Amino acid sequence: MKEKEMKEKDTLIRFGVSMPEELVKQFDERIAEQGYTNRSEAIRDLVRKSLLDSEWTKSDQVVAGTIVMVYDHHISNLPLYLMELQHKFHHEIISTMHVHLNHDQCLEILVVKGPLQRLRNLHQMIQIQKGVAYAELSVSHLGGVE
Ligand code: NI
Repeated sequence: MKEKEMKEKDTLIRFGVSMPEELVKQFDERIAEQGYTNRSEAIRDLVRKSLLDSEWTKSDQVVAGTIVMVYDHHISNLPLYLMELQHKFHHEIISTMHVHLNHDQCLEILVVKGPLQRLRNLHQMIQIQKGVAYAELSVSHLGGVE
């Protein structure tokens, strides 16, 4: 990662981009609110973020990220099913956090790594369950955990 950052720094490329004035104005206002002092850095962050978008990523690419879910633990068999599923994917799930949100609902965060397709499968199997109110897979890093 360090090597990659240095490489990026060493070979900066300048290029011109044309945009409608109003779009640039909105963008500048937004990034100033966020604390950017430099338009280029804001654009670099946007590009990095879009490159992590799982839609663009090859399904056999190894990635790291999180699956966040909210579910009702009173739905019969759901907690047991989710636990069985997590054991089935124990190679991909490297850490979990469980928060009891209220009397009924649980928030669970799975830190995952593995081929994107396998993480998508896990996410889908969670999402389609009755009682799961929310499930989102987020890719944070291309590559595994070294
Ligand atoms: Ni709970």
